[in-house]
Amino acid sequence: MNQPVMEGLRLNVPASVKHARLISWVAEIAALTEARDVHWCDGSTEEYDRLCAQLVAAGTFKKLNPALRPNSYLACSDPSDVARVEDRTFICSARQEDAGPTNNWKAPAEMRELLQTGSKALFRGAMRGRTLYVVPFSMGPLGSPIAHIGVELSDSPYVAVNMRTMTRMGRAVLDVLGSDGEFVPCVHTVGAPLQAGQADVKWPCNATKYIVHYPETREIWSYGSGYGGNALLGKKCFALRIASTMGRDQGWLAEHMLILGVQSPEGKKSHIAAAFPSACGKTNFSMLVPPAGFEGWKVTTIGDDIAWIKPHADGKLYAINPEAGYFGVAPGTNLQTNPNCMRSLDKNVIFTNVALTDDGDVWWEGMEKDTGTLPAHLIDWQGKDWTPEIAKQTGAKAAHPNARFTVAATNNPALDPEWDNPAGVPIDAFIFGGRRSTTVPLVTEARDWTEGVYMAATMGSETTAAAAGQQGVVRRDPFAMLPFMGYNMSDYFRHWLDMGAQLQASGAKLPKIFCVNWFRKGPDDKFVWPGYGDNMRVLKWMLDRVEGRGEGEENVFGVTPRYEDINWEGLGFTPEQFQQVTHVDKAAWTAELDLHAQLFNQLAHHLPAELPATKARIEERLAAL
Ligand code: OXD
Ligand code: MN
Repeated sequence: MNQPVMEGLRLNVPASVKHARLISWVAEIAALTEARDVHWCDGSTEEYDRLCAQLVAAGTFKKLNPALRPNSYLACSDPSDVARVEDRTFICSARQEDAGPTNNWKAPAEMRELLQTGSKALFRGAMRGRTLYVVPFSMGPLGSPIAHIGVELSDSPYVAVNMRTMTRMGRAVLDVLGSDGEFVPCVHTVGAPLQAGQADVKWPCNATKYIVHYPETREIWSYGSGYGGNALLGKKCFALRIASTMGRDQGWLAEHMLILGVQSPEGKKSHIAAAFPSACGKTNFSMLVPPAGFEGWKVTTIGDDIAWIKPHADGKLYAINPEAGYFGVAPGTNLQTNPNCMRSLDKNVIFTNVALTDDGDVWWEGMEKDTGTLPAHLIDWQGKDWTPEIAKQTGAKAAHPNARFTVAATNNPALDPEWDNPAGVPIDAFIFGGRRSTTVPLVTEARDWTEGVYMAATMGSETTAAAAGQQGVVRRDPFAMLPFMGYNMSDYFRHWLDMGAQLQASGAKLPKIFCVNWFRKGPDDKFVWPGYGDNMRVLKWMLDRVEGRGEGEENVFGVTPRYEDINWEGLGFTPEQFQQVTHVDKAAWTAELDLHAQLFNQLAHHLPAELPATKARIEERLAAL
């Protein structure tokens, strides 16, 4: 299978690959993009080291001081390519109504003409002068009944090495695919072809960007960006947007959720899946260290970002983390906010857009909390000198606010022993949480599945740096899935309601649903709740409720703990402070419900009637306050 497909290009298909459809697709994309050559990734350490050395030689990577940060690298992107581009992300379903009002849409034929088939199609010749990397990857443990396979064709070696950390990648995946296994085809180019003799830049990308999904044919095409979720196509594009449509069709759930294990001192293990919008402390929560007063409790990480959840014959929902690594936000991470994460970053890490210290290590805002001082001098993420004085005068950040680390899950000292179990773990509770400085209480339990779906559907959050655009405004982010939904949002609400009804009909005990908000602010504009490890106090109350033990009281919105229902040992948190983070303000909730009405208006097409009905019940209770 080493025959030329065009003048000068060999496909270099490994002898072990027998998948004719895969080979002909690689040939087709290599021909379309006019790639210089083709490399099939085997996922080995040798290959990883070779590609990293190549990235160092190209200036994309800087090798960090091995005495301080062994086997680790720093990449600094083009300043125009630093985050997911939601306004350039498209769901190209055959009918616009199936993409729904929350997604950008173009008719598939029109998009294909623009990207692939037109005479000026963007992918035509887009990989000229570059190697096409064939990256076979499994989302989930290889061979798990919950896992699915993808193959990404990319002209970015940065993507190839990051995919090796973020997924199960390489030869073993091709073995599982065999001669006719199913895979999701993912095509990615940085959109920066090189003419003969033209020198490359450190971070090739294109001002034009398209992140495109075809849900019916389950394909992903990404053009113009080399960064994060725009380019590592297993993550948001496959594991959320395409997988959510697979879940709708096949009766399962692909969710923007961390998964954690909690073990009581008596040895009882529970599993929680929690959805938070980007950069709301999700990684911190997934690696939580229990505080004083919780001796003997153990919290372990199964996943930090995405959960694939399938119903099992025993009537329970089982979840896997489809990823194998963490692509987390570095700024703000330190030994106080997330000690397990800091320990995960000791070695074998790819950092992107953090600052470089004079001794060849990395630095980001927040690390001064551990050392007590700011570094005297750094090279910032854009390659410029940074000093505390410059920062004071100009406000310049040493690390980009969306700077990231890519690290294997196996680096995490709090990794759950079941994290790689192909069967997944049974889910006992779902948590939904946004970043809200007002209105939404610390924790509320839904009285039933429908009320829980209502809470999740109406979630709002103040925006952060993970997506390009305005920050700090509240946007509705149903299920924390707004940027990641692969189909019509209201059909997705219907899918959740139907899944609950089906499980209930089978006699199963449904997971409980909770809504949390760690971010209420006091009159001094400071966060009232300490957060981080102290979130364990709230988690314990939720677990008590799951066990049918904990006390609470009915509220307009659901069931909330009273001050005395929470273990405060080791934390001086007063009843007044508790009141500040739990108070339900009638005027604020009246305004909030108006915003829910606006959301329901926007999502009116196929909106399940259960949701406005739940809203009407909340309004009745509010009126009686
Ligand atoms: C992420 C995000 O990168 O949600 O996980 O933006
Ligand atoms: Mn995320």
